[in-house]
Amino acid sequence: MVRMLLTRVLIVLGISMPLPVSAQGGNPYDADPAARRAGAALYATRCADCHGADAKGIGAPDLTLLWASGTDDERVFRTIQRGVSGSNMPSSSAPDNEIWAIVAYLKGLSTVSPFENEIGDPERGQKLFSSMCVRCHRVNTQGGILGPDLSRIARVRSRNMLMRSIREPSASVAVRYRAVTLVTHDDRRIRGAIKSEDAFSIQIADTRERLQGYRKADLREVIHEERSLMPEFGPDRLRDSDLDDLLKYLGTLTGVGSNRR
Ligand code: HEC
Ligand code: HEC
Repeated sequence: MVRMLLTRVLIVLGISMPLPVSAQGGNPYDADPAARRAGAALYATRCADCHGADAKGIGAPDLTLLWASGTDDERVFRTIQRGVSGSNMPSSSAPDNEIWAIVAYLKGLSTVSPFENEIGDPERGQKLFSSMCVRCHRVNTQGGILGPDLSRIARVRSRNMLMRSIREPSASVAVRYRAVTLVTHDDRRIRGAIKSEDAFSIQIADTRERLQGYRKADLREVIHEERSLMPEFGPDRLRDSDLDDLLKYLGTLTGVGSNRR
């Protein structure tokens, strides 16, 4: 049923031919907007459960960084077709044109282009960062650990994605920073970001940034949260002009002078 629908999407969008025979010869749909839309629909039904609705990764890798990390269309095609043995990543028996459409879609999302941001004052942005953000984020080894290190963020995220991360952090939460509340048998509640978890134990960084480990037997409940630990910085807390300054500053963070992520 789903498959029939998708085939119809492809046909409606007029991208059912030409049918490439293999991964050689490049993506026939590269930068084709109709193919990208079809690829988006295919992606949503087949890949989003594991890689996230925005491809930034839930239980599986962030696919928006593939091209930035040096891969090419053919390799992505083959990975999707063959899967990754020894992992959850399944192989796909979909026709080549569908796989190419997904590749075209992912390439369109990918953040290879340099960070373009003409407006804003980076020095003001840095001051805002120090007052509002640094307690949770490191830049070049300075700062907190509750959120990701942002030292190289301009290399791997577009301006739009950064803007969204700041205005609506809960729209997509990186796997290693999911929020959790632990409830002990004596009713203490500890909130933090999960650092690791298995069947018997869980390690978190609590909201005061202390790393803590618990045996699950000692907990009454482990509540996984959808929301990010990062507060929303809506226009009431961060005016548009402040956001421009902040984005301009983040745009300077390309990791020069630091090799930590
Ligand atoms: C059941 C979960 C699952 C589904 C469904 C899934 N993937 Fe994956 N995918 C994974 C996992 C897990 C990995 C990491 C494998 C590894 O290297 O350990 C992965 C790896 C990949 C990689 C390689 C990433 C890298 O950094 O090299 C690509 C590309 C990829 N997936 C694309 C897709 C696409 C496109 C789809 C849909 C057609 C899809 N995946 C469906 C779980 C999934
Ligand atoms: C209370 C802690 C906290 C504060 C304060 C905070 N953040 Fe975050 N931030 C997080 C956490 C946790 C995540 C990861 C979860 C997520 O993606 O929402 C995150 C994610 C991000 C991301 C996404 C990173 C990526 O790899 O995509 C950006 C960008 C970001 N924060 C920027 C900021 C900026 C700019 C500020 C200040 C205006 C700020 N944060 C303030 C905790 C915080």
